[in-house]
Formats: sequence, structure tokens, C-alpha cells
Amino acid sequence: MKRVLVATSGGDCPGLNAVIRGVVKRAAQEGDWEVLGSIQAYNGILWEPTEVKVLDEAAVAGIHYRGGTIIETTNKGGPFAWPVYNKHLGQWEYVDRSDEMIRKLQYMGVEAVISIGGDGSQRISQQLQSQGLDIVGVPKTIDNDLSATDFTFGFQTAVQIATDAVDKLVTTAASHNRTFILEVMGRNTGWIALHAAIAGGADVCLIPEIPYDLNIVLDKLKKRYNSKGRGSAIIVVAEGALPKDGTVHAAAATEVGYENVRLGGIAYDLSRQLKAAGFEPDIRETVLGHIQRGGVPIAYDRVLATQFGVKAFEYVLEGKFGHMVSYRHPDIIAVPFEEAVGQCNYVRADSDIVKAARGCGISFGD
Ligand code: F6P
Repeated sequence: MKRVLVATSGGDCPGLNAVIRGVVKRAAQEGDWEVLGSIQAYNGILWEPTEVKVLDEAAVAGIHYRGGTIIETTNKGGPFAWPVYNKHLGQWEYVDRSDEMIRKLQYMGVEAVISIGGDGSQRISQQLQSQGLDIVGVPKTIDNDLSATDFTFGFQTAVQIATDAVDKLVTTAASHNRTFILEVMGRNTGWIALHAAIAGGADVCLIPEIPYDLNIVLDKLKKRYNSKGRGSAIIVVAEGALPKDGTVHAAAATEVGYENVRLGGIAYDLSRQLKAAGFEPDIRETVLGHIQRGGVPIAYDRVLATQFGVKAFEYVLEGKFGHMVSYRHPDIIAVPFEEAVGQCNYVRADSDIVKAARGCGISFGD
């Protein structure tokens, strides 16, 4: 029996289970392959004793519509930065256990690894491949920020969730004559915000790629109200959006008690800035957060994820290692790690989708 190991790493993403199922079902057709799942990315291999799950057809039955990942995930630890507590110095240190992990995998009879993860995970894949481990990468992120692939699975589900939120906010905003600020994820890109703003019919969309001017946002909002103060407005803001004046949002977000801020919290800051600039209507903020990553993947993401899983296993059969599966409409192709990693897919300010948004009246505050 030949063995292939699957690992999911980084943040979870709707469609991960559909990728796993695609790998397992395609492998089962060969008859002489066993699929193993490492628990919590590569931690399952690095732990003593190891924790891996045999993924046969029974184990993956019906998981294509389940959110999360049945083999868990983490963005902590990993083969290149394994945390070890140094008692003498009283601090954590990070050690490289990559060679040891590769030897363990060889000992387990693992011939190849399918690594499902975002840019950081694929950098790790590239490094492990250069050290002799045969890897096929599968791109994963709700942010759609990887340029090697037209779309990442999970993105359309996140957009749907954000759009549903806009739809709900529209009715409460109109009833109360309020302005709502909906903050969505996306890391340093505005894909989720842009798509949800168009699909939901928002008035303002703020994204990192187009720095905004608060006064322009203010003007747009004022036009949404009549002289009696009747009206409403919806702003969709990406967590990484930036004002032209370079204000840092995270500090302000912490002030209002939004803990654990990395990129998020801009909704509160923007709200305060609008009030300080004299905007009178009520403003409410909604930070959608991890709701965008949870739950059932929509059909589009299940299909893309399944295609990725099946193709990733076929690359294992062909010995096409050191590549990431990628979607280039209408095909799934192999992109070498060196071309795939570190290439962020930003929204282009002059793209047709931004023009379409402007064309239907959405302001980017620029
Ligand atoms: O990359 C996916 C993502 O959900 C980003 O949109 C967000 O900034 C980040 O992960 C949140 O990470 P965590 O789960 O560590 O809070």
C-alpha cells in the first residue's frame, strides 16, 4: 500500500472538507493508496505519539457540505518553528524540526504530502520540497488574495455570508434611519468587501487598495439623508482598509474593547471619526468576524474544492510535485511553488469590477 498524507493549515475555510473528500475518493479508485490525515496541520506528525487519522471513504462520507476541517488546523507551531520552553532562560524558543519530520514521514511510508493552506503554508511546502519531501499544494483562503489562482475556495461562501449580512442590515438601517458600518475580513485585500458591496447594494465600500478620504465618505453619506434626517446608508469596510491620512485603526479598536485585534476594528474607528466630523444620524457597527469562515460552503466552493482535491491526488500519481493546484478558468493547472508563493492578488483600482461598483453609485471614498 502506498501512502499520501493530507494536512490542513492556517485559518479554516469553507470547502476544506470537500478537498479532503476529493483526495480520498480519487485515491480509492486506484486501489493501492492509503490516505492519512495529520491532525492540526503537521503537528500530528511532530507530536509524540503521532496523531494521524486514516481517511478512507467511510471517514469522508458526506463531509463535502460540512464547514471546518475534520483533521483540524492550526497556524501555530509547524516544522520550522516548533515551540520549546527554555526553563533556564524562562522563555519560549522556536526550533527547526523539518528534517526530523521528513524522516518520520519516510519511516511511516508516506510517499507524498498534499498540503492545503494559504500563502504561509505554501511557503512551508516550498521549503519542505527543497529538503526532499514531495508535496502538492492546494491554495486555501476566504480572502481570495492568491494571484496564482483565479479564485480560492471559501471566498464565494464568505461573500455570500457578508452579502446576507448587508441584506439584513439594509432593513434595520431603513427602519431606524441609521447608517450601518459592516466590517468584513480580507486581510490586506478588499475582495470580500467589494463583492458584498456590489451584491448587497451598499453605498460606500472601503478597501485597502483604494485609500479613502473621510470627507468624501461624509459627503456621500449626507446625500443619503433628506432635510428631515430621513434616510439610511450602508458602508462595507474591509478589515485592512486605509484612510489617506494613514490613521492606525487597531489602537482605536482596542480602546472600544474589541480585543484580539490584528487587522480588525476599523468599523469602530470609522464610526467615531464620522461622528467627530459632525455626522448626525445614528451609526451602528457590525464586525462580521469569523462567521465568514464558518458553516456550510456554498455549491461553488464545494465544486472548486472537490476539483482541487481530485487534481492534487492526480498530481501525486503523476509525480508532479513542487506545484500548487490552481484554477485558471476553465481548467485546474499546476503552478510551481516559486511562482505561486508571495504573490498577493490585490483588487486593481482600474479593474472592471471596481468600475462596475462605481457605475452603480458605490463610493470608494476617493
Ligand atoms: O486569512 C483568513 C482570515 O480569516 C483573514 O481574513 C483574517 O484577517 C484572519 O484570517 C483572521 O485570523 P485568525 O483566525 O487568526 O483570527
